[in-house]
Amino acid sequence: MPRGRIGATALAGLLGQWHGEGPAYENLAERIQLLLIDGRLSADIRLPSERELSERLTLSRTTITAAYRRLREHGYALSVQGSGTTTKLPPTAPDSFTEGGEIDLVRATLPATRRLPEAAVEATRRLADHMTGPGYTLWGIEELRAEIAARYTDRGLPTDPDQIMVTTGGQSAIALLARTVISRGDRAYAESPSYPNAYDALSLAGARIITSPVTTDSGWDMPAMEAAIARTTPVMAYVMPDFHNPTSRSMSTEDRLRLLHAAAKVDTLLVADDTTAELNIDRPHTFPPLAAMAGEHQARVVHIGSASKMLWGGLRIGWIRADPVLLTQIASGRSATDLGTPIWEQLVTTILFRHLPEILEERAAQLAAGRAALYHSMREHLPDWELPPRIDGGLSAWVGLPAPVSSQLTLAARPHGLLVTAGPRFGVDGAYERHLRLAITPRPELVRRGVEILAEVWPRAASTPALALTTSEAVV
Ligand SMILES: Cc1ncc(COP(=O)(O)O)c(C=O)c1O
Repeated sequence: MPRGRIGATALAGLLGQWHGEGPAYENLAERIQLLLIDGRLSADIRLPSERELSERLTLSRTTITAAYRRLREHGYALSVQGSGTTTKLPPTAPDSFTEGGEIDLVRATLPATRRLPEAAVEATRRLADHMTGPGYTLWGIEELRAEIAARYTDRGLPTDPDQIMVTTGGQSAIALLARTVISRGDRAYAESPSYPNAYDALSLAGARIITSPVTTDSGWDMPAMEAAIARTTPVMAYVMPDFHNPTSRSMSTEDRLRLLHAAAKVDTLLVADDTTAELNIDRPHTFPPLAAMAGEHQARVVHIGSASKMLWGGLRIGWIRADPVLLTQIASGRSATDLGTPIWEQLVTTILFRHLPEILEERAAQLAAGRAALYHSMREHLPDWELPPRIDGGLSAWVGLPAPVSSQLTLAARPHGLLVTAGPRFGVDGAYERHLRLAITPRPELVRRGVEILAEVWPRAASTPALALTTSEAVV
């Protein structure tokens, strides 16, 4: 049995401008394939009947039949008697694609801090202190909760360890919160564009997502955000005020106050994702965490954080900073899916937190090098693409394309060994074909080579969708 179905109108919306050179059935199959690869369309979903889709797209039935056949041949669909055509992802090892010299500009994440090996040795030694206990830590170990709380306090938000729950990565923090706060059919606000796995977590919790825009040149459209929140009274608003993913913009103090005010007026719970908040390259201002500014507005603010970008994604350590009452609610729901975060990784994180200022300098230098490589090579090879006016922190560049062909470009780049994520993955409604997110996290020579490949495939990509690939990977 398929897990769900997608109607012809919804699929047409996701497909966007899919026509290119070559037979329509090939273009259509390739676009559906891309939607599956980058997660805009899930596996195990029943596609519209051939008749419905041919009517909706005003194409012949034969074209749809051929497109579905092509999807089956490439392992992206399955036809079951009586159940129509169902989407499928071929069983490939996601990481195999990035081995052997391929360039990954999809994953906006850095390798482990150079401090990690010695922290790992010390953590192994300290593990002995925990071995006499059961090892299950639904809330996280005391040492780490204290370190995280101290960091918030240092940043201007006095925090008690009781206000911290350690989670298995920032992603599980978002999902736990969404599951606790959202009931099916509730509205939840998120910026557009935004971190795609957050959209997915909100949707999975049953939310109807409402958005307002963030752009690289003017930042948050505050009137639109205020209107969206006032009009739809969302139960929760998921925002990234610092080094927003993917635009890397930071909110001004005035915008932060406006956001707090808008949320407080309708009692929306603000969830500020701090995953990228400390990745400052050369932003001249520092901002206290959002909750530190909430006082006068009495807004309810929860913070989410992660060690993944500062220390290493492989630790899978994240956290929630919230009122202990809300944390208790989250804890009672958490045990249905997860009984806690591994202790050794928490110990490594605890040790590394004590070196955070030095590690953040290491990160700033790495990100500055990636940023310089991107700006120089883009100006040289792709001068008519629109670079963000500035990137002063964060992990990625949200680049404007001269034509709405982000999906074609993504497909065209892959046979050349370059992985990029199409812009629409960062929106909820198939928008952003004119955008591409490029990670500035790989080594400068890889960023430069990535841009060269984009320049090589660009002329053809703008008119011809490229052919098949067989992998899927998470966008981070
Ligand atoms: C904004 C944002 N929040 C959360 C996450 C998830 O973090 P983690 O790797 O800790 O699960 C990411 C990862 O890319 C992210 O970019």
